[in-house]
Amino acid sequence: MTQGTDLLTGSGTPEPRLTAELLLCHAVRCERTYLYAHPERELREVEWIHYGRWLHERMQGKPLQYITKKQEFYGRPFAVSPDVLIPRPETELLIETVVKRRPDAGTIVDVGTGSGAIAITLALELGVSVMATDISSAALRVAGANAVFLQARVGFVAADLLTPIADASIEVVVSNPPYVSLTDRESMQREVRDWEPHLALFAGPDGLDIYRRLFPEAWRVLKPGGLLALELGCGLADSASAFAADWQNVEIAADLAGIPRVLSCEKPS
Ligand SMILES: C[S@@+](CC[C@H](N)C(=O)[O-])C[C@H]1O[C@@H](n2cnc3c(N)ncnc32)[C@H](O)[C@@H]1O
Repeated sequence: MTQGTDLLTGSGTPEPRLTAELLLCHAVRCERTYLYAHPERELREVEWIHYGRWLHERMQGKPLQYITKKQEFYGRPFAVSPDVLIPRPETELLIETVVKRRPDAGTIVDVGTGSGAIAITLALELGVSVMATDISSAALRVAGANAVFLQARVGFVAADLLTPIADASIEVVVSNPPYVSLTDRESMQREVRDWEPHLALFAGPDGLDIYRRLFPEAWRVLKPGGLLALELGCGLADSASAFAADWQNVEIAADLAGIPRVLSCEKPS
């Protein structure tokens, strides 16, 4: 483990010791506590090979979650691949917002579901069936497998935003859409820019392309009084609030870092 930590430190990888431990656990297929309980345990040849390869991949910048193929979200394990965004802890605020404002929602649509983290979590937390769309068929395959594994009732549709929904029949539209501006592309974290799907990240020159389309689309499909809940990109709260001018009961919730992170609003009754 010291060897792995040293290699990762030398390449400037953040949290080198923890990363070396997690990669070693992945190679040995064990929990971290096992590593500490069995310091005498020698690695088998195949475990060395895997560990070495994964250390190398991490040193090249590949996110740990794409190596271990998993990420926890809202206390549940989600499979991830480079076809989907790695679910972020701040997105849990979107779940809390919907659960707080619409605990009895019967019809929920998650737009841009990626790994299915939002749709699956809401389906399980609220005990309902949820519909989820994504423009990426590859992402929907990952989300579908997660829904089966976690036994969540989610119907997945390959679609542009909410196009398959014909009428105002939905109670909640929820989304963590792409919101990075193309102008921020060069300055963003290399690990994100070079490894996560661009379809999941970028939304035009100002980062607002999807919000601009999603507000009117959500208005079209929501019942009167229906809730729209959206994750906000850093610095986009004012622009997104402007799109919500005709909506009512607009609320903005800040994440643990104090950044305005979730906008929720209701279509007037
Ligand atoms: C920021 S990721 C969010 C993924 C997941 N919901 C999460 O929070 O971890 C945005 C997702 O929106 C999808 N997407 C991008 N444009 C879309 C569109 N026009 N219609 C539907 N989905 C879209 C991307 O493929 C990606 O999976």
